[in-house]
Amino acid sequence: MSDDNAKLASLGKDYEFAIHDGTVGPSVIDVSTLYGQSGQFTYDPGFTSTASCKSTITFIDGEAGTLLHRGYPIEQLADKGSFIETCYLLLNGELPNAKELEEFETAITQHTMLHEQMNRFFHGFRRDAHPMAIMVGVVGALSAFYHDSTDIGDEEQRRIASRRLIAKIPTIAAMAYKYSIGQPFVYPRNDLDYASNFLHMCFSVPCEEMNISPVLAQAMDRIFILHADHEQNASTSTVRLAGSSGANPFACVAAGIACLWGPSHGGANEAALDMLAEIGSVSRIPEFVARAKDKNDPFRLMGFGHRVYKNYDPRARVMQKTCHEVLGELGIKDDPLLDVAMELEKIALNDEYFVEKKLYPNIDFYSGITLKAMGFPTSMFTVLFALARTVGWIAQWNEMIEDPSQRIGRPRQLYVGAGPRDYVDINKR
Ligand code: SDX
Repeated sequence: MSDDNAKLASLGKDYEFAIHDGTVGPSVIDVSTLYGQSGQFTYDPGFTSTASCKSTITFIDGEAGTLLHRGYPIEQLADKGSFIETCYLLLNGELPNAKELEEFETAITQHTMLHEQMNRFFHGFRRDAHPMAIMVGVVGALSAFYHDSTDIGDEEQRRIASRRLIAKIPTIAAMAYKYSIGQPFVYPRNDLDYASNFLHMCFSVPCEEMNISPVLAQAMDRIFILHADHEQNASTSTVRLAGSSGANPFACVAAGIACLWGPSHGGANEAALDMLAEIGSVSRIPEFVARAKDKNDPFRLMGFGHRVYKNYDPRARVMQKTCHEVLGELGIKDDPLLDVAMELEKIALNDEYFVEKKLYPNIDFYSGITLKAMGFPTSMFTVLFALARTVGWIAQWNEMIEDPSQRIGRPRQLYVGAGPRDYVDINKR
């Protein structure tokens, strides 16, 4: 806690509030007693100036464009680690040693199968259902099958539920994809690593063996690392709020998936690729940049801008590098969408509107091109985001449950509706 206090004068009275310092980043003014002392609320739509919790998991420096998971820079985790290792780090706070990593990876591998009866959920959807609709439904339904890991007060049950979610989310995602293209579900294989197993479940068919490219498997693993966690973003805050009522982890993650689906959040990777396709050629970029700057036009450059980053999203740099590696591995020499993306980035980063508003490419700008090249339809892009973010949601959910100061989240409001009035009989209206 800081030695200094924050002072507030309001409606003729003076108040003081404690200031708490973090390890790094902005300190906070603890206003939890404001209403009790003053009868007033703070007002912060969109929570642009509000810290909702204390956390030890992830830190973003928006001005510098840096991202740390338990203190480790995302670039180093993406370059030297694996997604399963990052999952262990996010859940436990430290990088695993070789024995810990092997035990964790084995446990995840042995939970990848779904209860066979869950297959029937998929057949209840139309074939053209958006895979995110299937993800929301099937992940929520996990709580109907795994009753032995829904008591959130039991640490062991929380551990089992966490591992089950991390293990089963790729299987569910792959089944959603297979269902959408009318191909048979492919069971997970215990001899494959996490990313290779996912590619196997998505792209192999019973008729022939599938050779999984190590370059594509590594790219998939790195894409999962880049999407794993990101402080208190909208979907993570949704999971925390749902969890604060005592809801089970499967229901909370289903709520997070629903929130991530929005085009302003995880749905931006799908929207960004659709935007690049609509622009179509470098010659049309000025037209769309003008639209993005036009206050009367709702169009925005998808994959650009961020609530926290006012510098280049460090994940976007790694994603751009991965994009080139994937296109190279697949022998895709000139991808017109990549040409448009690179030129659009160059134009936007030199345009005073984007410079003044500090709008840079975010993680969603290059991910769509990469995933499309790997063979995923745009409708699967946000599903892959949800797959990777599940570990972040679960790590944050566990942290919230274990926080002794945790209470049910219940914001207040500024009421601007009708004042008290009497009922009017219908024959007098
Ligand atoms: C993710 O929170 C997270 O951490 C999210 C995420 C994660 O890992 O969980 O990083 C993942 O969601 C990345 C963001 C993906 N979304 C998009 O790419 C959609 C396009 N971006 C915008 O919708 C917007 O930038 C947001 C939603 C990302 C951020 O919105 P903010 O913080 O509310 O910012 P804002 O809308 O207030 O914009 C500030 C100004 C506005 O202009 P003024 O009203 O001040 O004149 O910048 C403008 C906006 O009009 N602006 C854009 C723009 N983004 C913001 N103008 C054109 N194109 C854009 N993309």
